[in-house]
Amino acid sequence: MKKSLTLLVLMVSVLLVMSFSTRADEFTQDDLERWNKAFMTVVEQGEKLFHSPALGRNKVSCDQCHPNAANTHPETYPKFQKQIGKVISLFEMVNWCIRNPLEGDPLAADDPKMIALLAYITYERRGVPLDPGKHYVLVPALKTGYPSASPRTSGSRLFHRARPGTSPRGTSSGTPWISA
Ligand code: HEC
Repeated sequence: MKKSLTLLVLMVSVLLVMSFSTRADEFTQDDLERWNKAFMTVVEQGEKLFHSPALGRNKVSCDQCHPNAANTHPETYPKFQKQIGKVISLFEMVNWCIRNPLEGDPLAADDPKMIALLAYITYERRGVPLDPGKHYVLVPALKTGYPSASPRTSGSRLFHRARPGTSPRGTSSGTPWISA
């Protein structure tokens, strides 16, 4: 009797696990379209925030320094950022920019506005391979002809990647950006 009960419990467990795992994998074309629509709605909210002064107190918006969100290099996170002095996630860098250039209040990691910003920034950079830890080295070094290449970036790769003329407005350094 005891043996058959154990067997029954075992069979029921196996059936339960099987039904959960098949259910978890199943989705229809309708589901896909719905999820994609939900995602793109959030991307659009992020795009609006990125181009508006709503996140700060000084009328500055993200696009003034990052005209194209792609130059925020989301694929390089987590990485060490000198402004914060440790390895950080992308949302912490976004908060650094909200707090400093925009003089606004930082957002919680799960704030819908933060999720929208991250969705927009990463969507703009879709298809670029992940490269956590990477740094794009600054252009002024190029003027001297002796770029101080980071350990991850050779001077020649750096030179060919440089696109001067996209400097962030409003930064005291006026350092031009390099985009991949
Ligand atoms: C006044 C100019 C300015 C504004 C406005 C600005 N940023 Fe930045 N942003 C910077 C600077 C300077 C850095 C640091 C670059 C570095 O050290 O890699 C930076 C870095 C970043 C990075 C990391 C880039 C990288 O290559 O690692 C992200 C992400 C970012 N900003 C997002 C934003 C968002 C989102 C906003 C709007 C809320 C914003 N920034 C507004 C100047 C600005």
